Amino acid sequence: MKTYEHIVIAPLTPSLGAEVRGVDLARIDDAAASEIRDAFLEHLVLVFRDQALDREQLKRLGRAFGPLQVHPGKAHLGLPGDPEIFEITAKETSRHANGERWHSDLSCEEIPPLGSMLYLNQLPECGGDTLFCNMYAVYDALSKPLQRLLGDLDALHDGRQDLAAYDIELRPDQHYPKSTHPVVVQHPETGRPALFVNPAFTVRIEGLPSDESDALLSLLHRKVETQPRFHCRVRWSPGTLVFWDNRCAQHHAVWDYFPAARRGERVTIAGSPLRAWQRSPRPT
Ligand code: SIN
Repeated sequence: MKTYEHIVIAPLTPSLGAEVRGVDLARIDDAAASEIRDAFLEHLVLVFRDQALDREQLKRLGRAFGPLQVHPGKAHLGLPGDPEIFEITAKETSRHANGERWHSDLSCEEIPPLGSMLYLNQLPECGGDTLFCNMYAVYDALSKPLQRLLGDLDALHDGRQDLAAYDIELRPDQHYPKSTHPVVVQHPETGRPALFVNPAFTVRIEGLPSDESDALLSLLHRKVETQPRFHCRVRWSPGTLVFWDNRCAQHHAVWDYFPAARRGERVTIAGSPLRAWQRSPRPT
């Protein structure tokens, strides 16, 4: 437990995640926001309990950490509703639930988001937890030869691959983002290297034949799935808000509560460009 001037932090696991106590998110001031920002960079995933937020307060809270990003479903596909709010819904008629694979939100964007804040207002009686993984730690645990190889590579992230998982196919006149990012990025604020590929959006590693790209991506995805020491699991309760860093954490929503309903609203905070991790020069 660590006590700052305005907030108290209780880590969830040594690797990532922390509960933040002592703050009313509907009324945060600059001093509390600055301490939250420090805790966010240190713990990657922050959990706030017993918050009462309406939609405007959620948007205002998000803006305390940066401009809000419009979801491409709203920007390009004409999904209805507030452009700055992404609704998360699964119910008894659903065939899919959002985010049911390891991913980093909207990594298909040219500038992927800084982070997301999710506030759920309808919960199943049990289940519906969200898992998170520390992508700095996944990178740090790779062997040096593999780190050296990955440092030279870029990968294509295509939003159409994510849409296909929800049985959504674009019409020829519709546009959705796709972008190339380094496989290992340098976090714009901490300067640390993080692995930046995920099974929802990453289609291939550029410049490799498809069998090598598929094998390498599946190895990297397995490193995320199979190392629970780099995970934390958030159990939702009424009034919980979770704020995560999309640049260095991935998440996976668990849909184990069908046919019960789970609903909420997410705001996405715009990021800054991701650069390739600069390795120290190889000895000549
Ligand atoms: C998401 O943002 O991917 C959804 C996370 C969740 O529903 O827990």
